[in-house]
Amino acid sequence: MIFKSITSTQESEIVILPFLKNQVNFELISENTGVKGKPDFEGSFKQIMSLYHVSSDRKVYLVGLGEDKDQGKAHDAFRWLAFKRKSAWKTNIQIDCRHLDNNYITAAALGIALADYRIGVYKTDDKELDLLHTEAFEVSILTKTDQSELINLGFETAQAMMGIMALVDAPGNIKTPTFLAEWAQSSAEIHGYSCDVLEYEELVEEGLEALMAVGQGSTHPPVLIKLEYKPEGQNSKTPKLGLVGKGITFDTGGLSIKPSQNMHYMKSDMGGAAAVFGAIELAARLQLPIHLVGIVASAENAVDANSVKPGDVIGSYSGKSIEVIDTDAEGRLVLADALSYMVRNYKPEYMIDLATLTGSSVMTLGYSAGAMFTHDDTMSAAVSRVGEDTLERVWRLPLYDEFKDDLHSDVADLRNYSGKPLAGAITAAKFLEAFIEDHEHWMHLDIAGVAFGDSAYSKMKSASGYGVRLLHQVMMTLIEK
Ligand code: BES
Ligand code: ZN
Ligand code: ZN
Repeated sequence: MIFKSITSTQESEIVILPFLKNQVNFELISENTGVKGKPDFEGSFKQIMSLYHVSSDRKVYLVGLGEDKDQGKAHDAFRWLAFKRKSAWKTNIQIDCRHLDNNYITAAALGIALADYRIGVYKTDDKELDLLHTEAFEVSILTKTDQSELINLGFETAQAMMGIMALVDAPGNIKTPTFLAEWAQSSAEIHGYSCDVLEYEELVEEGLEALMAVGQGSTHPPVLIKLEYKPEGQNSKTPKLGLVGKGITFDTGGLSIKPSQNMHYMKSDMGGAAAVFGAIELAARLQLPIHLVGIVASAENAVDANSVKPGDVIGSYSGKSIEVIDTDAEGRLVLADALSYMVRNYKPEYMIDLATLTGSSVMTLGYSAGAMFTHDDTMSAAVSRVGEDTLERVWRLPLYDEFKDDLHSDVADLRNYSGKPLAGAITAAKFLEAFIEDHEHWMHLDIAGVAFGDSAYSKMKSASGYGVRLLHQVMMTLIEK
């Protein structure tokens, strides 16, 4: 699909008229259909109505964008419309955005582009392939003045999101740690940033012992993926942000094995890594003036004779020893190494880690928000606001020192699980805190409930692309500071 910014109407068989709730312009509808009168359409979120021109072949779709508060998900109304109706679309569509604010122009491009996402890529008779997928299909967005940049932002965001959605939805046998590394390497080459991968021998040399311990039961060796994007014309004022991601390609729980019922969904346990990949790729696509470093610790948490056992004591990159009480609390182990690796080697001004870390965060916030932890109130306020704007929400939970006792081990420096079914997201965050070397601007986002879940676009749970839009806005906040 190809996007065009146009400033005067052009002949098109398909015309899309998006409206905010109770702001429907019936004259504009009549102009497009040649019919007078007011259709029963108020513009509520995701409402769709198909109309026909009285004498030509033109089809007119009304799509509801809901209220102001729905702005962060306006793209989903466009995606939904395209998803539902695209089989009837042939060569081009025209979206009239002349009466809408800038954010909706980006949302139109983002949503239509996202309709190209195909989850059934492993089907042998792929019926989902359609015309939208071809370069010949044109999407013209009609605005008062040229808005190529806003449209491009939507398009590039969609590409970055779809790339990582495909990764999160990919099955565990295909997406091994090495596959993630190769994916990142190829994205880096295409979009002009650097990617360096520490493989097994280098992990041994560098002492990333916690990451290696998690991966030791798998036939697919663990890796540490290092990404760096440096903008052109970088200077002392360019902000530097470090992004750390949990990249467990499949989480069986290890010897503390998970129940089998929903275990297949644990292919999504690299949602944090995916968000880091997507955000860095998007920054490179848009050539944002920000210096980014990404560290993804990737391993498969498998069941095997070689697997780490409950009660084992392991080392870590930081030098601290860890008693592994529960092998299913593996995310914090790989993140421990990734966080101290980031701080020691890159010293970023700001550091955010993202991880599908605990079932407890899902019990607490459901699928409505990621759990946020930080000591930095300014960062907390900024990211909360951006979360509300994008509707990729975060909600802050505390890092009280009382929870440190839960990490006490008699035999090692600390243990990875308290053994109590209480405040699990907080104790996990507290564990990570022990590895950030007192970094003042660190934030941990537990995205277990939001990275992967129920979707209008699939019958089973699937990837949401969570984090790309949030982190893009976070980067913009740092750039504009
Ligand atoms: N990957 C899981 C967390 C998770 C749960 C992600 C549900 C997505 C949906 C993580 O590794 C895990 O198993 N955490 C345990 C920790 C516990 C053993 C201390 C949990 O939250 O139950
Ligand atoms: Zn686990
Ligand atoms: Zn996990």
